[in-house]
Amino acid sequence: MTHIIAPSILSADFGNLQRDIEMINQSEADWFHLDIMDGHFVPNLSFGFPVVKAIANHAKKPIDIHLMIEKPDIYIERFAKEGNAAYLTVHYEACNHLHRTVALIHSLGVKAGVSLNPHTPIAVLVDILPFVDMVLLMSVNPGFGGQSFIEHTLLKIKQLKEIIDKNKYPVILQVDGGIGLDNYQQLLSAGANALVCGNSIFSSPNPMETIKKMKVFNPNI
Ligand code: DX5
Ligand code: ZN
Repeated sequence: MTHIIAPSILSADFGNLQRDIEMINQSEADWFHLDIMDGHFVPNLSFGFPVVKAIANHAKKPIDIHLMIEKPDIYIERFAKEGNAAYLTVHYEACNHLHRTVALIHSLGVKAGVSLNPHTPIAVLVDILPFVDMVLLMSVNPGFGGQSFIEHTLLKIKQLKEIIDKNKYPVILQVDGGIGLDNYQQLLSAGANALVCGNSIFSSPNPMETIKKMKVFNPNI
């Protein structure tokens, strides 16, 4: 399987949202990545159900929803339904009963992801990895687009990739934050197979062309 490119809608032009959604529909991107922020788990607010629903109405590719919110269980069913979610990712740091939350996501027919903040070690995943479809490693402190990639994430990608391979888990390894044309190949070489990109796509002169470039992986680089 080739790698997945998931443009983050957080960096889209919200005054021209339908235009930007159509751009992604037409592009070689694989998924729509939707960042939901509650002002508690992260120091920022993003968008809620009406916007998620509007995006789902126009999106022609799978929708990957990243919940940066406290008490995600309360809202999971609505995000699954109104957002027509293919993947719902919750944060390890926000879930006291992560196994139950993952089961709730699965009960709605949605694939489940677990995300780790930059300071959270890979080791905490050991007893949830057999139950999840995706792990999202944050490579910036979540809350804002356009931040710089934290280099230490490369080590975490390699650690996680080793565990996934050793156990043959069918888990997608997604990385989110500060990813662009200058570093995406390095992340793929380290073992990532899904990349979330906001600023580097939407602020580029030709977003469709940038996505096209990011779909090319040359392991010799
Ligand atoms: C950060 C979000 C990311 C963000 C990525 O809190 O989870 O998805 O939008 O944006 P860039 O690619 O600009 O770092
Ligand atoms: Zn995200």
